[in-house]
Amino acid sequence: MMIFEDQKGLPLSPETGVLVLAAGKGTRMHSPLPKVLQKLLDKPMLWYLLNTLNRTCSSRPMVVTGHGRSQVEDACSSFMADFIYQERQLGTGHALQVAWDHINKRGFKWLMVLNGDTPLISPQHIKALWEGVRDKDADVGFMSIELDDPGNYGRVIRSEDGRVKEVIEARDFDADMHGQDVSEVNSGLCAFRTSSLRKILFELDSDNKQNELYLTQLVSLAQKSGMNVEAVNAGRCSGLLGVNTPGELILQEEYIRSCIVSKFVEQGVIIRSPDMVRIGPEVYIEPGSEITGPVEIYGKSSISSLSRIFSHCYIEDSFIDGGQVFCFSHIVESVIDSHTRVGPYARLRPGTKMQKGSRAGNFVEIKNSSVGAGSKINHLSYIGDTVMGEEVNVGAGTITCNYDGRAKHKTVIQDRVFIGSNTALVAPVVLQQKSMIAAGSTITRDVPGESLGIGRSRQKNLEGRSPLKNFDKND
Ligand code: UD1
Ligand code: CA
Repeated sequence: MMIFEDQKGLPLSPETGVLVLAAGKGTRMHSPLPKVLQKLLDKPMLWYLLNTLNRTCSSRPMVVTGHGRSQVEDACSSFMADFIYQERQLGTGHALQVAWDHINKRGFKWLMVLNGDTPLISPQHIKALWEGVRDKDADVGFMSIELDDPGNYGRVIRSEDGRVKEVIEARDFDADMHGQDVSEVNSGLCAFRTSSLRKILFELDSDNKQNELYLTQLVSLAQKSGMNVEAVNAGRCSGLLGVNTPGELILQEEYIRSCIVSKFVEQGVIIRSPDMVRIGPEVYIEPGSEITGPVEIYGKSSISSLSRIFSHCYIEDSFIDGGQVFCFSHIVESVIDSHTRVGPYARLRPGTKMQKGSRAGNFVEIKNSSVGAGSKINHLSYIGDTVMGEEVNVGAGTITCNYDGRAKHKTVIQDRVFIGSNTALVAPVVLQQKSMIAAGSTITRDVPGESLGIGRSRQKNLEGRSPLKNFDKND
């Protein structure tokens, strides 16, 4: 089961446009990377949002980009999305103004706006806001959350009758003017009736501490114009927290990490030391498999029932189909069949296929190679660009010399070949079936089937010439 598989789509109707604000630099992250590309587990923040939106909305989401525009657009290439360029980032309200022509042309009746730095908004949040706005027939709606410390969030100010008056940004909040500080803050997720938005969007001003056009000023503008404003309070909701600093990034990553791990445990995956297990949102794990932390499993990896992954392994875009991966193994774009044992300390690089019952032991590196059923590479070897048949025995210290400085060459090792220790196989080369290679050989020519290949200098014994002969035990 994949973690997001059961997210129920609404879906939002085609007359509802969805806009993601992702143009900001993210100064508080202190990183040259655009903020929305900072990763939670193995995916950028924006990936989570677009993944959710592509599952819940019928319309193509619109994404406002600015800082690091092309990087951000490239990172979204696997999703349906349209991009709108905000050349200068003059505030969240300005981002919405820049997008307005686009929104208008597409004739949306409703518009939902999400902050690109609030990655864990779920379909349930979108649904709850949408239903709140629709049921109350609101012109402007937003989702609020409760925080013990409202920090840098916009404060939700309500009048005595409980109705929302305005949202005051943290820097502009003044207890003398706005009363005692509140715990209810703006999550940034908001929705508008576009015919109402049209009337107030260009009334925004930058008369505030940051000299920016605040999207949140639309709340008070709507209120003053007699429009219906609705805040849907999501309570203490971790999924709606924003990411502005490295600390907040880690907090949100930890939240999604523990959600993913708990979900797999509930489904029947045995996860030991669960706090130290990091599983990406696209990983698929079948019940009946066992994992011991610390471990990282990322990308489109798939782990079938009966697989066992021991601690300190890193697995990315790989398929473990019932095999065992022992401690400290690093596995990328590889396939490990059932009854196979990999590691400890193995490195499987892209294109490795370990067939049923095969083994790759300690300090073995394999790349772009298939290892036939029952074959063993148990110690200290490098196997690259190789097709290996079944029941092959590869001795310790065997190296395929696949690279001549310009091109890569192939090694073919047929069924039941036995390779003695410390052998160099200089590719291209074919070892035909049931051939045997003498230990310490450098093999530069093909070896015919059932033959013994020896490629080493003959040993000479010089009698009586050992330098040790004149030393006795006490010297
Ligand atoms: C915003 C809200 C605040 C809310 C908080 C929730 C405003 C003015 N404030 O504050 O009320 O509590 O989110 O997390 O909206 N962006 C652009 N173009 C710009 C400026 C920002 O696209 O010109 C994007 C940013 O990339 C970011 C999002 O808008 O993804 C929010 O901007 P940010 O500066 O992080 O707003 P906050 O100060 O967190
Ligand atoms: Ca923010």
